[in-house]
Amino acid sequence: MRFSAAAAAVLAIPGVSANLHQLAVGAGKKFFGSATDNGELSDAAYLAILNDTKEFGQITPGNGQKWQFTEPSQGSFSYTAGDQIVNLAKANGQLVRCHTLVWHSQLPSWVSSGSWTKDQLTSIIQTHIANEVGHYKGQCYSWDVVNEAIDDSGVYRTSVFYNVLGTDFIPIAFKAAAAADPAAKLYYNDYNIEYSGAKHTRALEVVDIVQKAGARIDGVGLQAHFIVGSVASQSDLTNVLQSYIDAGVSEVSYTELDIRFSSLPASASGLQQQATDYSTVTKACLAVAECIGITIWDFTDKYSWIPSTFPGQGAALLYDENFSKKPAWTAVSSVLAAAATGVATATATTIATPSTTLATSVVPTSTKTTAAPATSTTASSSAAARWAQCGGKGWTGPTTCVSGSTCTYQNDYYSQCL
Ligand code: XIL
Repeated sequence: MRFSAAAAAVLAIPGVSANLHQLAVGAGKKFFGSATDNGELSDAAYLAILNDTKEFGQITPGNGQKWQFTEPSQGSFSYTAGDQIVNLAKANGQLVRCHTLVWHSQLPSWVSSGSWTKDQLTSIIQTHIANEVGHYKGQCYSWDVVNEAIDDSGVYRTSVFYNVLGTDFIPIAFKAAAAADPAAKLYYNDYNIEYSGAKHTRALEVVDIVQKAGARIDGVGLQAHFIVGSVASQSDLTNVLQSYIDAGVSEVSYTELDIRFSSLPASASGLQQQATDYSTVTKACLAVAECIGITIWDFTDKYSWIPSTFPGQGAALLYDENFSKKPAWTAVSSVLAAAATGVATATATTIATPSTTLATSVVPTSTKTTAAPATSTTASSSAAARWAQCGGKGWTGPTTCVSGSTCTYQNDYYSQCL
């Protein structure tokens, strides 16, 4: 039974709205979730929304489980920040996507600046993972085991891990995670792998490398840090999701979704475009049965990472800085409602919280796509433009940024043309 008209009717009742997670579950997904961070948890208005399990059935710690916080010096482990968020999720009955184990960024200098042999660095990775995954054993729905191993041009990113171990660091990390928590789903997670291009092709290779090494990889996480008006087509997004499933992982997920304005303030028409873009991404996930859920990278513009990382950009999330729902929220909820099959009747009171535990919802086979995997192997200029760095050309190194201009590298995510 389709639910769209009834859901639309409920959404139209003033003061009554179905919430994102319950609608996502009704549509056959495991969750709709949000990242959060420790500093925000003292904001009562913020916390009330985060704790609403009809709105968010899953939480990702935005920072607290990263290496710089969990093993700031060798052999000295601290889980205070991560525990605060995992415990909050546990109290609420929300799933946790644990994030992240091996990443070049937010890595303490004792790791990144060391001169390691292969054996030494292998042991450092194994010890870190055994300790952290062991600490959280049984509490993580999934782990982002390796994060962002590919750079924007589609080659493996230079890092202490790659420099010392080549791509071997990837299966080393997956094997260690599997040994420490056999029940957690193990993910490769990256950005700009959501649409066809060189980075997508390389991400498929990462899956292959892990599998060929005899290690377990369950999922690919697609961060989905997008720009308003520059989101790939729904069919490209869907084909790319499907391509990872075809490569042999059992699930995919949008793990850090936000869609930012590259200049501010946002206009009314811009907010409508953002709503369309969020709809496109939501529909792509709905079209692939193995896309188990969507996580936004925090839910309010008040606490988004975007303004501090991409100067002058922002307004990327579903709630504004005052916790009002934006047009994009309405769009996502409408798309989810239209796809919902799990709720038989729809009145203001019968859009129920899912009665089963979050981890056991069943994906209806009717939503499975048969789309062919994407075959493109080269990054197109439009793909680079989606990242919109250096005048839309993307960062590919100092000499190829934009012909005739100078590109100043600012951080991993943003480079500025002078
Ligand atoms: C970001 C956090 O949101 C910021 O607070 C922090 O300063 C930098 O990292 N990709 C990831 C996330 O995998 O861990 C990043 O989170 C955003 C990009």
